[in-house]
Amino acid sequence: MIYLSKEALESEEVVDFKRKLELTWIGKENRPQLEPRILLEDSEKSHHAQHRVTPYDVFDNRLIFGDNLLALKALEQEFAGKISCVYIDPPFNTQQAFEHYDDGVEHSVWLALMRDRLEILHRLLHPTGSLFVQIDDTELAYLIAVADEIFGRKNRVSVITFKQSSASGPKSVNPGLVTTSNFIVYYAKNKDVWKSYKVFVPTARDDRYSKYIENFDAPFTEWRLINLKEAFCTFHQATWKDLKQRFTDRLENKLEEFVLSNPDRVVRTARVAPRDVNAEARDALSASLQDSDTVFRTERVGKESYYFLNGEQLLFYRSKTRLINTKLTTASAATNLWDDVLSNNLHNEGGVAFPNGKKPEFLLKRIIELSTEPGDIILDSFAGSGTTGAVGHKMGRRWIMVELGEHCHTHILPRLRRVVDGTDFSGITGAVGWKGGGGFRYYLLAPSLLEKDKWGNWVISKQYNSAMLAEALCKLEGFVYAPSDTIYWQHGHSTERDFVYVTTQNLSPDQLQQLSDEVGSDRSLLVLCTAFRGKADRWANLTVKKIPRAVLSRCEWGHDDYSLSVENLPKAPAKPGQQSLFEEEVD
Ligand SMILES: C[S@@+](CC[C@H](N)C(=O)[O-])C[C@H]1O[C@@H](n2cnc3c(N)ncnc32)[C@H](O)[C@@H]1O
Repeated sequence: MIYLSKEALESEEVVDFKRKLELTWIGKENRPQLEPRILLEDSEKSHHAQHRVTPYDVFDNRLIFGDNLLALKALEQEFAGKISCVYIDPPFNTQQAFEHYDDGVEHSVWLALMRDRLEILHRLLHPTGSLFVQIDDTELAYLIAVADEIFGRKNRVSVITFKQSSASGPKSVNPGLVTTSNFIVYYAKNKDVWKSYKVFVPTARDDRYSKYIENFDAPFTEWRLINLKEAFCTFHQATWKDLKQRFTDRLENKLEEFVLSNPDRVVRTARVAPRDVNAEARDALSASLQDSDTVFRTERVGKESYYFLNGEQLLFYRSKTRLINTKLTTASAATNLWDDVLSNNLHNEGGVAFPNGKKPEFLLKRIIELSTEPGDIILDSFAGSGTTGAVGHKMGRRWIMVELGEHCHTHILPRLRRVVDGTDFSGITGAVGWKGGGGFRYYLLAPSLLEKDKWGNWVISKQYNSAMLAEALCKLEGFVYAPSDTIYWQHGHSTERDFVYVTTQNLSPDQLQQLSDEVGSDRSLLVLCTAFRGKADRWANLTVKKIPRAVLSRCEWGHDDYSLSVENLPKAPAKPGQQSLFEEEVD
């Protein structure tokens, strides 16, 4: 035990020591004030099947073209707490962007980029949801430190090692170890309520199951057990030696095929402690010791019966199997080592070439199976070639993807169109029996709501029409955009009785009086207009504000790119007083 003196306890080091454990980096304290943009559908690029294929077809999936930080912010109002699974595979590819900067700066930008995105992703996740981040070993440790701060260390479920290549080819001659794996960091939003589903993976045949019930159709008390090999030879009407010659290196496969065709007849016996079974089973167990070579059975309500033979439990090969990709397979529960999802044909999956980035469809299938059920929403904000959406779509999940690169159009759009049309036969299509159907909508991020005029003043962007303006202001003010067909001043609502009206008019006192009369005493209305005359507080049921002044200080305007680049180096915090100009309310 170490005892510290009073002086030592008050020293700076100890004060530091008492602070929470955290990773720091240049500019960590700076957070972007993101503009919650609206999303604009380009229906030319959206795509839907001609007709329903199943009653469960999903049509409202979303593909968003643009920077993912702005896109995630745009999704927040509608999707906070609704996403069941987030999978991201962020790049760490700075190319030449940072050649004149210290390594520390590059890493700082990357960490800030990840922190800002992970914070919104955390808010988007459903309380029972899960996050998966695929990452290589260069950033793994830092990513975990950042994600632990946001998700909480206790919600870190696992770090999965994914074997993505083998130690062959040119990389195997380089000095040092050959890198064949990367990692998937897996978090629960909240482990106390988190939902995860059991996933099984194919394993080798269990050769401890070496007996075969020769007369399976007879009553179980008369069952006779013979050796598995003997049964296999009888089935092929040949000796073991002949079969070895006939099947050569396929012999084990053939034997496994035979076992999997007879999962209820291939058995083994195993010791069982009497205290591990119920009283009735204990009696059957001891009776089986007395009466050798006779099978005893104890039935259980809602569970598989127990079978005993010669004082041991009789176990059936079926218990070692699962239906994986529609085939009965020897299987065991998935571990945190995933070395069985190598894709031989990865470059052809989805019909798009995306070297060094594309992940196997079977990898995404496992992640989606682990964390969701059909109908749940999955999100990938670093979509690349669109693997997550393609796999989610084929598995009946709803999906949202965001991609900034031009391959959103050259790769994701054609890939997802083929999935919808049922003409993508690659990846998991056969394994899940995908036939096509459903659809998706393609969105762009709207431009910034405000732009500077020639005098340097912030004004409403000329690219906004009145519907866009109303929708954008609803989002900024926290209202649900739902314009009424009949009541011109109802553009959105926050509750059943609280509405918002957006107009570029200069409202006169008479117009405001008329609005107040129509709203009545049991409802309230926020009026956002470019100008008005009269005193703002004259009408008890109206709150009148001028745009854009009312929203100027809310966020950073005109900022379109939050991606990993030098321009996005951490900004110095605003000097005190700099924003007060905007905050001033002038009538
Ligand atoms: C490694 S790839 C993802 C590959 C994907 N998992 C697949 O299977 O195809 C990373 C992707 O993130 C995209 N990206 C990087 N920064 C982004 C940002 N700020 N917003 C949106 N996408 C971004 C890149 O353009 C790239 O396509």
